[in-house]
Amino acid sequence: MENLPSSLQGKVVLVTGAAKRIGRGIALRLAREGARVAIHYHRSEPEARRTAEECGAALFRANLESVAEITAMFGEIERHFGRLDGLVNNAARFTRFDPLDITEADWDFIHKVNLKAVFFCCQSGARLMLRNGGGRIVNISSLGGIRPWAEHAHYCASKAGVIMLTRALAKAFAPDITVNSVAPGVIPFEDIDARGRAMIEATPARRGGTPDEIAGAVVYFLKASNFVTGQILAVDGGLSQR
Ligand SMILES: NC(=O)c1ccc[n+]([C@@H]2O[C@H](COP(=O)([O-])OP(=O)(O)OC[C@H]3O[C@@H](n4cnc5c(N)ncnc54)[C@H](OP(=O)(O)O)[C@@H]3O)[C@@H](O)[C@H]2O)c1
Repeated sequence: MENLPSSLQGKVVLVTGAAKRIGRGIALRLAREGARVAIHYHRSEPEARRTAEECGAALFRANLESVAEITAMFGEIERHFGRLDGLVNNAARFTRFDPLDITEADWDFIHKVNLKAVFFCCQSGARLMLRNGGGRIVNISSLGGIRPWAEHAHYCASKAGVIMLTRALAKAFAPDITVNSVAPGVIPFEDIDARGRAMIEATPARRGGTPDEIAGAVVYFLKASNFVTGQILAVDGGLSQR
């Protein structure tokens, strides 16, 4: 990827967790921008197939808890496309526990996917990108990585970890690969709970966000020159300002 602002036309971009919800929105937007999209999924095969058909995209399955499966997936991507220009680390888990009750298994359930997998996807993705001159990585973090949420301390820690990984890897992978992060506020779906609704009420924009609004920020970072790196962009209707 050039170090100047560029179009996504013909660029190979992998989106993790892209079968549905925000990941699907990012994949659809990238396809509209002309990218050759690679869709990763784990359990949601029918939804992943539907998203892939709509995007004209290729499908890759991996349980991101396993570094061996991550490595194998990037190997498949190399065999399929011969290159990788962009990586969007979107897949994650979200649970709620009183920190006094959380167990080791509950902690690992979150951190294996939200933080460990993001690191190893960045590592495998960067190795592949460097074979063709570099690329762009966008990590989806969360407002919960910036603001403390008492019943999500484990999740907040994982997303704060993603934010620091973004900054540290931006230095490590410069100048050929940029690493940036989009931190969504509340992006509501059918499973929204009372706490989510209260957060929307507290959002200065007075509404929840949409997957396409997250996708717009992702596209900005994917297209930006290498003068934009290590940055965290909250797309949250102003909620982080309260
Ligand atoms: N929705 C929000 O309000 C909000 C707010 C702040 C931040 N975010 C962040 O935005 C991103 C997308 O949010 P979302 O709500 O759309 O996410 P989501 O639906 O909860 O999860 C996205 C995908 O992650 C994949 N995933 C989970 N565990 C996996 C594993 N072990 N291996 C492989 N894939 C796995 C799942 O793929 P399969 O279904 O194929 O198994 C799932 O569809 C996440 O990083 C989330 O933390 C969301």
